[in-house]
Amino acid sequence: MQLADIGVYGLGTMGSALALNLAEKGFRVAVSNRESDWIAPFLKEAGPLAAGITGQERLEEFIAALEPPRVLLFMIPSGAPMDEMIAKAAPHLAKGDTIIDAGNADFNDTRRRNDVLAAQGLHFVGLGVSGGEEGARTGPSMMMGGSAESWQRLQPMAEAIAARFEGAPCVDRVGPDGAGHFVKTVHNGIEYADMQIIAEIYGLMRDGAGQSAAGIGALFETWRKGPLQSYLVDATAAVLQTVDPETGQAMVDLIEDRAGQKGTGRWTVIEALKLGQSASGIEAAVGARSWSSDKALRGTFETRFGAAGGMEMPEVDTLAKAFEAARILSHAQGFAVLQAASEAFKWSLDLARIAEIWRAGCIIRSGLLDDLADALRGTEEGSLLLAHGMAARLDRTVPALREVVAAAVVAGLPVPAMSASLQWFDAMRQGRGTANLIQGQRDFFGAHGFRRTDQAGDHHGPWGG
Ligand code: 6PG
Repeated sequence: MQLADIGVYGLGTMGSALALNLAEKGFRVAVSNRESDWIAPFLKEAGPLAAGITGQERLEEFIAALEPPRVLLFMIPSGAPMDEMIAKAAPHLAKGDTIIDAGNADFNDTRRRNDVLAAQGLHFVGLGVSGGEEGARTGPSMMMGGSAESWQRLQPMAEAIAARFEGAPCVDRVGPDGAGHFVKTVHNGIEYADMQIIAEIYGLMRDGAGQSAAGIGALFETWRKGPLQSYLVDATAAVLQTVDPETGQAMVDLIEDRAGQKGTGRWTVIEALKLGQSASGIEAAVGARSWSSDKALRGTFETRFGAAGGMEMPEVDTLAKAFEAARILSHAQGFAVLQAASEAFKWSLDLARIAEIWRAGCIIRSGLLDDLADALRGTEEGSLLLAHGMAARLDRTVPALREVVAAAVVAGLPVPAMSASLQWFDAMRQGRGTANLIQGQRDFFGAHGFRRTDQAGDHHGPWGG
């Protein structure tokens, strides 16, 4: 057997799917897994593709099966397991070899690992992979972080297996060290916000207008084309219209209302705050998932404070526009975090290119991202909201967002992500804000000083009286 072009370690759902995708595109693949008894069933399931795949039980044999300079792709749980595998693999590698972490890793870990491995002459690539199992098998969107040299080696494989948007592969090297994982993290943050906005609209229709899951699903069905077109709208329409074969009830009505989360949304918020940003729509989405876990307490509060309901329901077209505005604003917050990180870490992120990579294959792919890619290519204004076409779109849709949020607030129905996005927009379009008073307060109790509007330098107020 010839040496393999790439080694895939980790035969869980995503690793298996990537290995099969690579084999299908004609690359020779070596595979391995911590539990070695997963290898034979995987090869059996690979069918004819197994001709291009070899399986090795021992790590040394797996590494020896790779064509130098070797490329090892790990698709394993992030955190300690990745550090453990790096420690085991690195002694068997030679200068110029590349280790890829294709999981959802904390970019701080990626930067640390990159530094350690670079000192040993090894390349470390933090590869953001989006699209779930189907994407990994048939074409994911991928955000690569690492050296230009390692990208040269990986590019043919990455472009061959990636999703394509109008023929162009949805993968690129977005920057060095942790840039790929950072961009994937923010992708997930935007994913959280988008999912939450959708859930809020569902909640208004369910609890405010008393509509059935199937009825709400039918509305989402109509949004699958036009300005709201997106994979998540497709998924929502399908989920809402699915019937449980056991009971004949809407499946969604039988799902417990506690959301899981693995951490990428939270990382987006944490990193945004560290960078002096506030991705409030994303934060609201993360918070809403956390609140959802407090199920028992929510029940108690409902008994004590009463349930909301009965809302003055805006027109369907108003709901659609509100959704569009909230989605634009939460994407803008995500891109603002990327811009801040790009400056702080000197990554020179190409935001338009990132939007392009997200146009197919990934979970947040949408018509809006296509428009944003064009808008970001054409903008020199420094903010997505001022980019070509976006300001006019907000002019058209923000009044609807305001109407929906106001009606929900009056009815007592929660819309945390929609209202947080709107609050950010309203704060940002206020040329004269209220931070003058904050500065006055800070100076009053802590002598922190302030700048005057009419004089240069730092000043203190005559508070003493
Ligand atoms: C993707 C998804 C993927 C995964 C999320 C789910 O881009 O393919 O984002 O990475 O579905 O990690 O995250 P939560 O479990 O935190 O919702």
